[in-house]
Amino acid sequence: MTLNPFFVAVVVVFASAVTGCPVLCTCRNQAVDCSGLRLFSVPPDLPLDTRNLSLAHNRITAIPPGYLTCYSELRVLDLRNNSLFELPVGLFWTSKRLSHLDLSYNNFSHVVADMFKEAYSLVHIDLSHNPWLRKVHPQAFRGLVQLQSLDLSYGGLSFLSLEALEGLTGLVTLQIGGNPWVCSCTMEPLLKWLRNRIQRCMSGSEDYGEVCMSV
Ligand SMILES: *[C@@H]1O[C@H](CO)[C@@H](O)[C@H](O)[C@H]1NC(C)=O
Ligand SMILES: *[C@@H]1O[C@H](CO)[C@@H](O)[C@H](O)[C@H]1NC(C)=O
Ligand SMILES: *[C@@H]1O[C@H](CO)[C@@H](O)[C@H](O)[C@H]1NC(C)=O
Repeated sequence: MTLNPFFVAVVVVFASAVTGCPVLCTCRNQAVDCSGLRLFSVPPDLPLDTRNLSLAHNRITAIPPGYLTCYSELRVLDLRNNSLFELPVGLFWTSKRLSHLDLSYNNFSHVVADMFKEAYSLVHIDLSHNPWLRKVHPQAFRGLVQLQSLDLSYGGLSFLSLEALEGLTGLVTLQIGGNPWVCSCTMEPLLKWLRNRIQRCMSGSEDYGEVCMSV
């Protein structure tokens, strides 16, 4: 029997997509570490069973649309300290298990509506240290009922609508310090909501869903 060369090529490509570790990265126990490699773009073809992916401390400016589609086992995605200013629409469509997302130290200016759509297992989002971050859409975090911790500190926020946080019924920790807040009447509903939560925190009641804020 002679092997069809096309068939061989397909098998080789498929096998490398399943088992290969991207050049320069280290792969161990379903964790892929590509941090600090001076990458300008994301590595292609990760192992399909990747659970932790670190692309931290690179110079990545964009994530291609559909980049995560094949990695439905992903739990932890670390994109800290890059040059990202947006995420493609639908990036998390298959990220049903993603629980930790670190977008700190980037160049986001907006958190757009439904930015994390379909990543409904998210427990922790870090958007701190995005100095150009000016706007959080009222529907930015819609549907993230599992979210326990949200870090929006050290951005450029002067305003945040209550609507953006109201639906986060699991929220326990919110960090918003280090922003140039303007305390006008438009912020009143949010401040009132926060004051309420903080009071209940301080009085030591441990109801699920309390928000303890560090400002
Ligand atoms: C994956 O990330 C989680 C959370 O950061 C960490 O606790 C765990 O040790 C990581 N797993 C591996 C194999 O690095
Ligand atoms: C960001 O990454 C660079 C290397 O690309 C490193 O020198 C710098 O210390 C990192 N900054 C932070 C805040 O982690
Ligand atoms: C970050 O974004 C701002 C505009 O939103 C731009 O002026 C600046 O050059 C960007 N910085 C980097 C490091 O990409």
